[in-house]
Amino acid sequence: MNEPAKKVPSDSQVEMTEIVLPHHTNAIGTVFGGTVMSWVDIAAATCGLRHCRKQVVTASMDAMHFLAPIRLGWIVTVRAAINYTSHTSCEVGVKVIAENPLTSETFHTASAYLTMVALGADGRPAQIPGIQPQTEEEKHRYDAAIRRRETRLALKEELKKRRERKQKG
Ligand SMILES: CC(C)(COP(=O)(O)OP(=O)(O)OC[C@H]1O[C@@H](n2cnc3c(N)ncnc32)[C@H](O)[C@@H]1OP(=O)(O)O)[C@@H](O)C(=O)NCCC(=O)NCCS
Repeated sequence: MNEPAKKVPSDSQVEMTEIVLPHHTNAIGTVFGGTVMSWVDIAAATCGLRHCRKQVVTASMDAMHFLAPIRLGWIVTVRAAINYTSHTSCEVGVKVIAENPLTSETFHTASAYLTMVALGADGRPAQIPGIQPQTEEEKHRYDAAIRRRETRLALKEELKKRRERKQKG
């Protein structure tokens, strides 16, 4: 079967904007971590859909650290881009930036790396187009993603072994 033609990160990059409303916030007027994670997941899925042109599911989201609070009324920008592709999966890098609309100050709030897996019509993982990084920054992200993938898959294997040991009792 012919491999799908390679694409470049700008083909699928995503920029999503939200305004923080009362239902996004906790008792101290800052955004819930889970709300930010949901925005991150949606941006990554949109990016994966654009790249793969197939249905995608989130296989993993790496550890997320919240570096600065986001307050009621602020503007949140969520940027997502494909860092790396393998056979049926891709790593999407997501950055969350909060903006105080009254001062125009911006804050890097969080970053995350998600692995999205494309599914074929049979619901099984399906081949995706490769990615061809263009800029120096994209090349750097590609190389770093290879190292993260190794760590991620080693952790997946370790968790699988633990589950099997537990099942055996
Ligand atoms: C993700 C999923 C489709 C993988 O299925 P699977 O039977 O393990 O498939 P495979 O072992 O063939 O792996 C398929 C690809 O996913 C990658 N993958 C699987 N689990 C992964 C994980 N935990 N982290 C990162 N990548 C993972 C594999 O490396 C492989 O990538 P490659 O083909 O590019 O090398 C399956 O585990 C699933 O459906 N999970 C639930 C997804 C979901 O519902 N997400 C929403 C939140 S609940």
